Amino acid sequence: MVDEDKNEMVVTPWEVKGRVDYERLIREFGTQPLTEELLQKVAKHTDGLHLQLRRKLFFSHRDLDTVLDLYEKGTKFVLYTGRGPSGPVHIGHLVPWIFTRHLQEKFDTRLYFQMTDDEKFVIDDELELEETRKFAYENALDLIALGFKPENTFIIYDVQDIDLLYDIALEVAKRVTYSTAKATFGFQESTNIGWVFWPAIQAVPCFIHAKLTGENVPALIPAAIDQDPYWRITRDVAAKLGYYKPAQIHCRFLPGLGVGGKMSASEPETSIFTVDPPNVVKRKIWNAFTGGRPTVEEQKKLGGDPSICSVFQYFYFLFEEDDKKLAERELRCRNGEILCGECKIELTERVNKFLSEHQKKREKARNIIDKFHIKR
Ligand code: TRP
Repeated sequence: MVDEDKNEMVVTPWEVKGRVDYERLIREFGTQPLTEELLQKVAKHTDGLHLQLRRKLFFSHRDLDTVLDLYEKGTKFVLYTGRGPSGPVHIGHLVPWIFTRHLQEKFDTRLYFQMTDDEKFVIDDELELEETRKFAYENALDLIALGFKPENTFIIYDVQDIDLLYDIALEVAKRVTYSTAKATFGFQESTNIGWVFWPAIQAVPCFIHAKLTGENVPALIPAAIDQDPYWRITRDVAAKLGYYKPAQIHCRFLPGLGVGGKMSASEPETSIFTVDPPNVVKRKIWNAFTGGRPTVEEQKKLGGDPSICSVFQYFYFLFEEDDKKLAERELRCRNGEILCGECKIELTERVNKFLSEHQKKREKARNIIDKFHIKR
């Protein structure tokens, strides 16, 4: 979706730019807002609401209500999410994965996780297949480090596992016209043909559970909203193939440490990677964009603006679980009682504490990674 006149918001599976207006995305993508009523329905099964639901990081859905109704009547669902392995994982990527792990635990359900080493090779001129395959392995370590259950987690490496995917991909591809795909993804004359077929591959894990187990159950996809175009196509095809339409729950983007947009691996100074050492984290946070005033005097007199502050966003998304403490920080900032330097120092400490644990678990994951590979 491109709108150059208003606020230059661009949200496609390949690009997210500008100030993202989530209400507008709900309208234009035709998804549903996550209502209080629906959240309460989720909470019944999860002992209270996860931080990411309370704070509205997940804000929109398709068919979540249907999936929960089915669940309450005894039909389970499977979870599906994925990653385009084009580089190292940053903290923003972990946000929906952390929520997915929570769902896996509370609903005791399977997760299919797709590593799209093929997609990233096909759409990115700079990347070789060997590199995307290596990143797929490295990124899987980050996923495993978050504590997913090996017996319920099935990672699919597209290139290696294509034999498992190909028949369903063909069934999907045959039922999507070029004109639909072009309208959905904006293909150009210069687009390579690998890219044109590729969306059929991203559809496959929505249906693979039936192939592996004979159980026809819906898939629920927790993912950032930029992936929605894929699911529009998949949903159209599902009924024709005798499957449930995949349901989704959509999250926001974790903003980078700069102004606007999402955290992006292509702007390394504004992204915190999971493998960053403490001094690099410190430098990146120290240089972050905040809602502070140019001088200490002004800050004390006029207060800061947490609503535009990238540092505050990190507390909000991940690094302050206590709602009361978060509200206090916000108020103290607005009242000029706290300076940006203090927030930056506290955030650096928390991020580095989290990463030192994560990095240990990530190294241990090398020994068990095979347990998470989809079985035939
Ligand atoms: N296309 C996604 C990306 O580039 C990767 C992906 C594949 C994915 N399947 C998914 C993401 C399902 C979310 C949910 O990052």
